[in-house]
Amino acid sequence: MRTGATQSPSPTVAVIGAGAIGLSVAWRLAQRGVEVTVFDKDAAGMGASHAAAGMLAACAEAEPGEKGLVALNRASQVLWPSFADELERASGMPIGLRAEGTLVLALTADDQARLKHLLTFQHSLGLPLEWLSAAETRRREPHLAPGIAGSVWSPEDHQVDNRALVAALRAAARKAGVVIREHAAVDRVKTDDGRVTGVHADGRVFPADVVIVAAGAWSRSIAGLPPEARPPVRPVKGQMLALRMDPKAPLLRHVVWSPGAYLVPRDDGRLLIGATVEEKGFDSELTAGGQLALLEAAWRALPAIEELPIDEMWVGFRPGSRDDAPIIGPGPMPGLIYATGHYRNGILLTPVTAKAVADFVVDGIMDPLLRPFGLERFTAAVAAE
Ligand code: FAD
Ligand code: GLY
Repeated sequence: MRTGATQSPSPTVAVIGAGAIGLSVAWRLAQRGVEVTVFDKDAAGMGASHAAAGMLAACAEAEPGEKGLVALNRASQVLWPSFADELERASGMPIGLRAEGTLVLALTADDQARLKHLLTFQHSLGLPLEWLSAAETRRREPHLAPGIAGSVWSPEDHQVDNRALVAALRAAARKAGVVIREHAAVDRVKTDDGRVTGVHADGRVFPADVVIVAAGAWSRSIAGLPPEARPPVRPVKGQMLALRMDPKAPLLRHVVWSPGAYLVPRDDGRLLIGATVEEKGFDSELTAGGQLALLEAAWRALPAIEELPIDEMWVGFRPGSRDDAPIIGPGPMPGLIYATGHYRNGILLTPVTAKAVADFVVDGIMDPLLRPFGLERFTAAVAAE
């Protein structure tokens, strides 16, 4: 699809938001010779991209009604190994990509029936998932609770250390020539004669031919855009915590999903436990109920966690669109592009988003895989009502 994103042969680009999405888009653009400035209201990478668990789960989380999204998730999953390799070389920083795969536990016979039903659907999409007996599951992870009913084995759902990822993206983007302006909130997008022409930040105007909205959960509140150009993105609160294992004798090696929680073991011995899903706006309170629910669910899967010290607890805000799928592509005004609304899979979707948006800005061509994810799917629905 050729859409002619820009008029100028070498556009200048302003990216609003220095999370995994904004930084990766900026890095890819700079690699193609584009002049890019990224703005963040805080330090780079401290939004959802800092809060996430870093799971690259295109298969185990696939649910009915998400066929187009599963295809996009899988396309990004395939890009991850080479993306990680290139980023580590470009930044000189490790990003902790681990490839042990994921186990989705059934604790009870009911869980087993539910997972096997879902597995039939997942197999119909050709996803590489396999049922494992309880004995086989515990052979792979001996510290799991003795009474489990079995698990779904997902050999291609891996993990990356998302905090290391954003640090590496920041370094690689800078090395490639991106200017990153931290603690510089974009107060409003500048528009003239119906097209975007730059951003107001830090008390001055930064002219740009293209403005990319990658402001995560805050994307809807960027001022200066007409109502129809504000992406319908809301914050979806997630609480998490990390326990501290002995890195030489970790309790777990795979990513494990269990009813009510997931567990993600890191190389440094941290065991992440997540996450709540709460429609509470930008409420950043940690709650006893949220943390209790996560710990109880994790303990039912892995009882030995009760001996582990707590390392950290935190809250993050997933950028959720109206249908929980991302919004990627051009806006209704020339020069305006979205890369937002990645909800629960923004780390997974980083490589495919960065490539697609950079290709669109430079070549004016949008990857057909991204066609279902434009803003127009919402405006078209309203017009048809
Ligand atoms: P963010 O990282 O939030 O970045 C947006 C940036 O925009 C922020 O730094 C913010 O400060 C900045 N900004 C906002 N407004 C302005 C402004 N006006 N001017 C300048 N800057 C501005 N995804 C996965 O793939 N796997 C997971 O395992 C996973 N686990 C998750 C667990 C939790 C608890 C949460 C909360 C999310 C999780 N996610 C996961 C989702 C993932 O974190 C997000 O989809 C992804 O990080 C979104 O990246 P982003 O760059 O769009 O947003
Ligand atoms: N993808 C994990 C989460 O959003 O909690």
